[in-house]
Amino acid sequence: MSNPASPPAVDVLDERPGLTFPPGFLWGAATAAYQIEGAAAVDGRTPSIWDTFSHTEGRVVAGHTGDVACDHYHRLGDDVALMAELGLKSYRFSVSWPRVQPGGTGAANPQGLDFYRRLVDELLANGIEPWLTLYHWDLPQPLEDAGGWPARDTAARFADYTTLLADALGDRVRYWTTLNEPWCSAFLGYGSGVHAPGRTNGADAVRAGHHLMLGHGLSVQALRAARPTAEVGVTVNLYPVDPASDTPADRDAARRIDGLANRFFLDPLLRGSYPEDLVADLRTVTDFGHVRDGDLATISTPLDLVGVNYYSRHVVAAPTEGVATDSAPSCWPGSEDVRFVTRGVPVTDMGWEIDAPGLAETLRRVHDYTDLPLYVTENGSAFVDSVVDGQVDDVDRLAYFDAHLRAAHEAINDGVPLRGYFAWSLMDNFEWAWGYTKRFGMIHVDYDSQVRTPKSSAKWYASVIRRNGLAAQ
Ligand code: FCB
Repeated sequence: MSNPASPPAVDVLDERPGLTFPPGFLWGAATAAYQIEGAAAVDGRTPSIWDTFSHTEGRVVAGHTGDVACDHYHRLGDDVALMAELGLKSYRFSVSWPRVQPGGTGAANPQGLDFYRRLVDELLANGIEPWLTLYHWDLPQPLEDAGGWPARDTAARFADYTTLLADALGDRVRYWTTLNEPWCSAFLGYGSGVHAPGRTNGADAVRAGHHLMLGHGLSVQALRAARPTAEVGVTVNLYPVDPASDTPADRDAARRIDGLANRFFLDPLLRGSYPEDLVADLRTVTDFGHVRDGDLATISTPLDLVGVNYYSRHVVAAPTEGVATDSAPSCWPGSEDVRFVTRGVPVTDMGWEIDAPGLAETLRRVHDYTDLPLYVTENGSAFVDSVVDGQVDDVDRLAYFDAHLRAAHEAINDGVPLRGYFAWSLMDNFEWAWGYTKRFGMIHVDYDSQVRTPKSSAKWYASVIRRNGLAAQ
């Protein structure tokens, strides 16, 4: 025991304590089909909106595409072996819809299903819980040609695809996520157009958001019907939204962006209604005539869990008087002129402000909506990595994970039923409109040779998993 009279030998205030997570905490890593699989035209796969988009000049940095990506389709065994070395308890992956149901309608493609069966079996053989996301943005192109997510029928197609997957893999996959980040699909895909399919119409974006959620609800019902014991959830990307100052105008700007970014999805999914202020904010964009009786009941079909993707915080301010609204297509329909403010805090290579306390805040907020178990289904950072003597010492990424896990632990201490955490990402991959220029992986990928090199963050994460927590520092 230390002598209370003697001064501390070091500045204890700067030390970070060790932290232990609850028993059974599900430590994982996440990827998505189009970002890693490659094999774009192999074994019967047909184009998705991301194939079309990435092959359209000017859409993706440097003309990068997911044609080859990390060639995971052909390297499944080696990649699962790397996961096992990390000691992952779970692996969150997504299924490429046009690989298993080319064109998005009709019969399954047996070769496509076989790939996912092999993946799941390999995971199970290594004691890794498969966590399957049904839709991580790769809508079959013919469904986009028929109207895409702004068209109501796409929701029904998604339910059919769900049944096909539940029948094929439901005997061995316990955890199912319907959608990944519907905000991005709707508002980046159909609003600003920076994501596939690259359309730019605010009303279409709002319709897309609704039909994505309708598809989610129908998908949950399809899963329940086919596999009553499945654990089913949805993954939303959430941000705390702060006003840049305490003025009523800035506070109103924050309310508007919070409505579009967060409550547009949380309220229908978890409360069965759209927020009134959001509907009012959008009145110049849409009259919500696309919402039919019964939709919100379907959308709020009870879930088993909620997945939260967290990366950063938004700080916003009211439009500057006298300055005309930027006429570029916006992912904030009806609130295009709200200004996004930077605070001068450290940012990642995406330019996203690093804000670990925001993760705890976000988890507490979702818990205010629901008592369901929560999972962080994505959290991570892009940094410029350099390979030196075969090593990648990604101290910034490691520090990002460490800080966010401390915030996650704080949320657990506050009573949030957080049951697991998935690092984004297992390995470097195709970062959508940024192509291969942004690296989020714990495992470095050399895209010429396809050599994988675990970075320092991967080794550190393996130790976190082993001790079920963080060492004192
Ligand atoms: C999320 C996506 C994921 C990845 C990370 C960085 O929005 O779900 O695919 O691109 O951002």
